[in-house]
Amino acid sequence: MRITLFDIQAMKRDGKRIAMLTAYDTPSAALAERAGIPILLVGDSLGMTVQGHDTTLPVTLDDMIRHAGAVVRGTGRAMIVADLPFLTYATESDAIHSARRMMQEAGVQALKLEGGASLAPIVRRLTELGVPVMGHLGLTPQAQHTLGLRVQARQAAAARRLMDDALALQDAGAFAIVLELVPAPLAATLAQRLQIPVIGIGAGAGCDGQVQVWHDILGLLPGKSPRHAKRFAEIGTAIEAALRDYAAEVESGAFPTAAQSAGMDPAELAHALN
Ligand code: KIV
Ligand code: NA
Repeated sequence: MRITLFDIQAMKRDGKRIAMLTAYDTPSAALAERAGIPILLVGDSLGMTVQGHDTTLPVTLDDMIRHAGAVVRGTGRAMIVADLPFLTYATESDAIHSARRMMQEAGVQALKLEGGASLAPIVRRLTELGVPVMGHLGLTPQAQHTLGLRVQARQAAAARRLMDDALALQDAGAFAIVLELVPAPLAATLAQRLQIPVIGIGAGAGCDGQVQVWHDILGLLPGKSPRHAKRFAEIGTAIEAALRDYAAEVESGAFPTAAQSAGMDPAELAHALN
């Protein structure tokens, strides 16, 4: 049995903080599940982390379905949430079509959609149809060309709008909300006011949970991680060192040895040669 939205909401009621992490493929999803992470997000951040784009905007529904299916196949217990990508849920009928494909073809348990009060009717409809929806407010990267990439809702009017958006999503049936890059005191207030879990990224310690990007916390991308990310390991450096060793051993002839090779009866080889 997989973790459900009821388990996640019970964690908030019980005061247990919720750890969520992105995953994009089968083996990493399996590792995250073994580490006990209850929610894995197949984020459209895969546009940057695995596809080499600068933004999430080029990611397609087919891309998301392919990666989400891989994550589902690597897990049996974690709740798998997938982003619907840019402009695949702008109308109710698009949202239903995209949700059907993601749930049926990839087999995820829930979807994440970026947007506030104006998205609420779509959230309500999907929820009525049996699709659990996670909201996403604050910095919503699919809108980066209109919002920018900076901390959101620092001023009173925008903070009030964010609170209204969050309440509208909760009323529409969203089972949780991701809050990205908003001031910590505002996020903490929202987490207190909402019944549903508020999962922060760059939103401070007062949220009900945290979400991070796999590559950011494991040191897998060249250069600095974002400010909100802590590097829990330097896997990129470890990989590079291992690969240098591999290349050096191929070049020196130290790899492979008999241990990595198959032998053959010399008589069989001799027979083959005449
Ligand atoms: O795509 C993603 O990884 C996300 C998280 C950063 C919340 O949406
Ligand atoms: Na995303």
